[in-house]
Amino acid sequence: MSVKPPPDRLYGRQKGKSLRPRQEWLLAAFLPRLSWPAVPFGIVPRETWLEVGFGGGEHAFELADKNPDVGYIAAEVFETGICSLLSRIAPDHVEQPEPPANLRLFTDDARPLLRGMADGALSKLFLMFPDPWPKARHAKRRFVHPELVAEVARALRVGGEWRIASDDPTYQAWTDEVLGGQDVFTVSRVTERPEGWPGTRYEAKAVVAGRVPVYWSLIRKS
Ligand SMILES: C[S@@+](CC[C@H](N)C(=O)[O-])C[C@H]1O[C@@H](n2cnc3c(N)ncnc32)[C@H](O)[C@@H]1O
Repeated sequence: MSVKPPPDRLYGRQKGKSLRPRQEWLLAAFLPRLSWPAVPFGIVPRETWLEVGFGGGEHAFELADKNPDVGYIAAEVFETGICSLLSRIAPDHVEQPEPPANLRLFTDDARPLLRGMADGALSKLFLMFPDPWPKARHAKRRFVHPELVAEVARALRVGGEWRIASDDPTYQAWTDEVLGGQDVFTVSRVTERPEGWPGTRYEAKAVVAGRVPVYWSLIRKS
């Protein structure tokens, strides 16, 4: 594969519409109470899971809620998305919201975070509908990339799982090609969302638009 390794530079939007006072408060006052790595988990986690690019946070919120003994790090750089997950955790009607003990938000580029993780530190990594960057000249911006595959394999424990989903035909073909060139993961690929994978807003829009998502489950070999 001739594409260069991806630079740790962010290209997508990081700011959306101007924020409402509640959103300003969530970012200024509530986020610092569950910001990774400044605030450690309030539990001793059985496992640590990482989600890259959580968007509106529906997937992260559901999995963290269903797995209270797992430490869940949810990474996103888009401010509106960060506010959306914070609003799920701290709905408007709750006057004194408490951060969940097992959910932490990382509000910067997830790639340096991943590189800083100890070998085998993660049990799961979720990459749900990454920005597709369909133009060939933007291929190096894609998260799925041979260099990142090696990095995810290093950070995952043996038997750990990397879940990827994409609705974009170019990204699907690209992912198949990159995964075909590696030998550290056992790969399964389906076009129906597997049991236990929460849906996301981006996915719902893609399905309404007639696109067929692909879901890959990668298991780290010994
Ligand atoms: C297409 S959206 C999908 C969001 C969500 N996973 C979903 O399925 O609804 C991709 C998201 O990844 C975020 N993102 C892209 N690169 C990132 C990075 N390096 N670290 C953290 N988030 C990133 C973007 O800001 C964007 O919100």
